[in-house]
This record gives sequence, structure tokens and C-alpha cells, in this order.
Amino acid sequence: MTIDNFTRSRRLRRTSNIRKMVSETKVSVEDLIYPIFVTQGTGIKKEITNMPGQFHYSVDQLPEAIEEVVSLGIPAVMVFGIPGTKDLRGSGADDPEGIVQQGVRQIKKDFPDLTVITDVCLCQYTTDGHCGLVIEGEVVNDPSLERLASIAVSHAEAGADMVAPSEMMDGRVLWIRRGLDEAGYQNVAIMSYSVKYASSFYAPFRGAVNSAPSFGDRKTYQMDPGNRLEAKRQVAIDLEEGADILMVKPALSYLDIIRDVKGTAPLAAYHVSGEYAMFKLAAKNGLIDETAGMVEILTSIKRAGADLILTYFAKEMAEHLLKDSIGHSNNSTGDKLKITDNRINSTDHIKNCREFG
Ligand code: PBG
Repeated sequence: MTIDNFTRSRRLRRTSNIRKMVSETKVSVEDLIYPIFVTQGTGIKKEITNMPGQFHYSVDQLPEAIEEVVSLGIPAVMVFGIPGTKDLRGSGADDPEGIVQQGVRQIKKDFPDLTVITDVCLCQYTTDGHCGLVIEGEVVNDPSLERLASIAVSHAEAGADMVAPSEMMDGRVLWIRRGLDEAGYQNVAIMSYSVKYASSFYAPFRGAVNSAPSFGDRKTYQMDPGNRLEAKRQVAIDLEEGADILMVKPALSYLDIIRDVKGTAPLAAYHVSGEYAMFKLAAKNGLIDETAGMVEILTSIKRAGADLILTYFAKEMAEHLLKDSIGHSNNSTGDKLKITDNRINSTDHIKNCREFG
């Protein structure tokens, strides 16, 4: 190599069109899962203080909220419930008239083909705010398993397509799989929060659903943030127990883990409330461009190896993708048909989600 004979990498960075042609990672709308919060009452659409742009919805407000999600082409939602009452057993979690069960029935009634995933955990429903049952001041593993299986079955009865155990009890995937199968829900999938770290980034979510533990912390069941090899073991255990989709959570501080555990099973990553809130606040204050930052964050999660991304940005990202493809067809080819195609696709998606099968 001589002074005038070096590699010109910039050739492929020259125009937006070329950059798109050689881009290695593209987030698409099919990758996105939108978390949604359902609360008791009627006529409620209330913004969550520490999660700007996210809302608590009462069941009657869901049709409108979900219509928006579906119209953007987002294929799936993750439902979280905020129950009216709590007790020691977390009875609200597997109550057929519980908040998640009502929410799921409503969503499935209007949009049977939208994929509905439910979070399976006790923390929103118990007075202790822990993810498993508490006996004599301890979060006990084995007695919690029956509760978790029962919650999963009740979500399946309400119409959930997938259940997502997030409470990090040992053996939960096995118990939930057995519970679902025995109840006749062989086709309900398990998306396991396989690698869930004891993270400070869940704080805005805990405020939003009132689920902070009343004593201690979650370190006796969630993972130590410094552990990498353990993540591989957790994933192996979950696959063995019957998980269909694996998850790493949080996402941004754990991109190396996403890369490490990426194997042959579909992998999801959860860009959690704190990760969302800190970026959202920075963007709101004009420190970082919101759209560019959002795209960069979600692209990095996908690049690390996630097939699916749970994100409070799902709607904004879907909107961006739609605009981007319309802009692209206008700029580069002037092909107006593509614009119409987008709209047709989106209408078709609403229609498909409204019809069975
Ligand atoms: C329930 C649960 C939590 C989250 C998802 N499911 C909170 C926790 O484990 O304390 C966090 C989601 C988020 O922060 O966006 N166990």
C-alpha cells in the first residue's frame, strides 16, 4: 500500500441510498413488542409520570389504544396489570376476573389475530411486592411454582397467545409448561425472561405498577449484573424446561449478554423502563435527537443478536419506519405506488388482526 493507494471505505457511505443498500442491521416493525398497562376503572387514559408517553388504560380504553398499535403494523403486545387490591397470595393474579384477564379478553375480542403476551409474576399482586410468595420473611421458591402455573393457565383461558414468566423462580418454565399442557393449552407458548438481572433500571416501571418490594430487594432471585457465564446456564435450563422464546433484560447495559446467549432459539431483549426514561428525558431536554437516538438504541439491540425487542418506543419506531419507507420511495424512485402499498399493508394488518386466523 502506498500513500495514494489506500482503501476508500467512504465510497459506500456516500449517499443515503447506498448506505441503506449495505446496511447490515435493520429493525423492522415485526421485531417490536409493545408493553401496555391495564388498570381498574373506566374512562382512564393516564400518563405515567416517570415514563413520558406511556399510559395506564382502563379496559374500556383498550380498543382505541390497541387499534393504534395494530394500525402501525406492530405484531404483538405485552400486557401488564395493575390490580385494585393486593393480598399475601397475590389472588388477583389468577383471578378469572382479574385485570390482565379482562384486558386480554377485551383485546382478543377486538383483535383476535394480534399476538397477546402476558407477564406472569406475583409482584404487582402481593402485599410484599415480591415476585414469589413470602413465608416468614423469605421469598420461597417451590410453593410459588403452583401459583405461577395457575396464573399462566388463567391468562391462557383469557386468550393469551404466549405467557412470559418474569419472576425468576427456579423450575417455573417446567411448571408452567406442565400446567398449560394439563389444562389443554399445548399451543400457548412460553417467552421466558431467562436472563433477568437485578437492575436499577426497573425503577420507573415499579412506580408505574406499584410493585416495589416492601422489604429487601430482588437479589435473591434476579441475577447479579456482573455474571456472564451464568446467563448461558440460565438459557440452557430454560430451553431444557421447554421455553419457546428466551429473553435478556435489561437490554442496553447487557448487549454482550444478548450476543453471548444468541443461539438457535428466538431471542427477545427488553429495553426497560429506566433505559427508556433516561433517554426520553434527555431527548425532551434537547440533549439528544429523539428519533436518531431511538433508532440507534433499537438497532444496537438488534445488532447484538435480539430477534425481538420489547420497547416502550414500539409505536414511535413503527411510525418512523413507515415514514422512512415512504420518504425513501419518494426520494429515490418517485414511485408513488409504494406509498399506497404501505397504507394498504397497514389496513390489511388491522383487518387481519380483526379476523380469526
Ligand atoms: C415484573 C416485571 C418487572 C419488569 C417487567 N416485569 C419489574 C421487576 O422485576 O421489578 C420491568 C419492566 C421495565 O422496567 O420496563 N417482575
